[in-house]
Amino acid sequence: MGNEKTILCIGAGYVGGPTMAMIALKNPDYKVIVVDINSKRIDAWNSEELPIYEPGLLEVVHNVRDKNLFFSTDVENSIKEAHIIFVSVNTPTKMFGYGEGYAADLQYWEKTARQILKLSDASKIIVEKSTLPVKTAEAMERILNSNEKGIIFDVLSNPEFLAEGTAIKDLEDPDRVLVGSRETESGLRARNKIVQLYSSWIGKEKILTSNVWSTELSKLTANAFLAQRISSINSIAALCEETGANVHEVAHAVGTDSRIGPKFLNASVGFGGSCFKKDIFNLVYLCRHYGLDEVADYWESVVKMNEYQVERFVLKMLKSMFNTIAGKKIALFGFAFKANTGDTRESPAIYVAKKLLNEMANVVITDPKALENAKIELKEFDGNVEYCPDPYEAAKNAHAIAVLTEWECYKSLDYKKIFESMEKPTFIFDGRNTLPHKDLFEIGFNVIPLGMPELSHF
Ligand SMILES: NC(=O)c1ccc[n+]([C@@H]2O[C@H](COP(=O)([O-])OP(=O)(O)OC[C@H]3O[C@@H](n4cnc5c(N)ncnc54)[C@H](O)[C@@H]3O)[C@@H](O)[C@H]2O)c1
Repeated sequence: MGNEKTILCIGAGYVGGPTMAMIALKNPDYKVIVVDINSKRIDAWNSEELPIYEPGLLEVVHNVRDKNLFFSTDVENSIKEAHIIFVSVNTPTKMFGYGEGYAADLQYWEKTARQILKLSDASKIIVEKSTLPVKTAEAMERILNSNEKGIIFDVLSNPEFLAEGTAIKDLEDPDRVLVGSRETESGLRARNKIVQLYSSWIGKEKILTSNVWSTELSKLTANAFLAQRISSINSIAALCEETGANVHEVAHAVGTDSRIGPKFLNASVGFGGSCFKKDIFNLVYLCRHYGLDEVADYWESVVKMNEYQVERFVLKMLKSMFNTIAGKKIALFGFAFKANTGDTRESPAIYVAKKLLNEMANVVITDPKALENAKIELKEFDGNVEYCPDPYEAAKNAHAIAVLTEWECYKSLDYKKIFESMEKPTFIFDGRNTLPHKDLFEIGFNVIPLGMPELSHF
């Protein structure tokens, strides 16, 4: 059976690491092992320089590491030892063959399932932590239970809802936890074990149980709805710019309707992150598979609107700067896909930077946490991009600043000092609408926000 009180998590990424640290913290009677095939990542988890930046994470890890939380590369022995196995490997979009560009690439998941099967000699509970298309658990259960060892695997779905940047807060006090299982005797027993784990710190009323398919689909749907709100307000931002309305005022007015609510209504350069686009494309692929083309088109338009928004942002930059940016220095303030993370996956900043570089601009990137990842994203432009931790230095002699991540630290910079060090005329493109626009205009900047009138000295 493996040790009843040993939990394993396969995949020590943005989800596996923080989630297991919290489970270990709240369940001191359990031993929690997190494994990964990437030994550099594991070394970092065992050091003071964790592989991901997340406020509060280091403190939680300090509390439990080497007590009841262990990071290791020993996948094989850990599989043998554990009774409960969370799988939190990456599930990127498939970039080949059928479903290319839309379907989930399940090769990491399936490899993991086969490895679990090979190494197990007792029944285990397998928990999908990764975000997966509906019916994946069923397929995995079929692979796992096709064994001749007489052992049974219960495959459950327990998708993660943490948001990067607030992961610890989200894990400590989640809106809800979903646990889906088969509604058989053994499935319900396994479900109960996972519910117990979470109920050591989360109220029972927040732990929602259902069948596996509902849980899987709930995660995809939640991400699609969140992304849809961003695309919706961004579409209105475009209309505001044409009509003279102010998207901030419109969002406030709309968000005060208690049926709508104020969250996720900030116009911006667009959403990024490793999940939204991938999960919507999963949904689109599933809909097409079932012949629901209208439904698929509807959700696909959320991604299209996002692409339109970032494209619009770059075109605005180009147009404002007299249709030529060749040889002009442009400072990008922020490269992470959102504040309080170093994660740059699918960040709109990647698209903006590439477009500006193709226009022969001199791009300088500053970010408090994401410069190393930015270098990886822009590897093909090695030597043509400058990376600069200090925003004052980054802006020196620049023609323009583009704010691409809503880092708090950018709100309180000495913009007078920055303005004085820049080329004139001086532009600031606020892709997050977080800076004090009027103050910047009074200093001398031409301020181009999203969805509201520009403040121009011309
Ligand atoms: N990042 C988020 O904010 C977030 C939030 C909710 C859900 N999710 C979902 O969680 C899953 C993981 O996301 P992530 O951001 O943590 O990904 P990640 O890429 O940061 O981490 C995945 C890890 O799995 C490891 N891995 C892959 N195959 C392995 C194997 N066979 N054995 C051991 N390790 C293996 C990789 O080396 C990597 O370190 C995805 O399905 C994602 O959609 C992510």
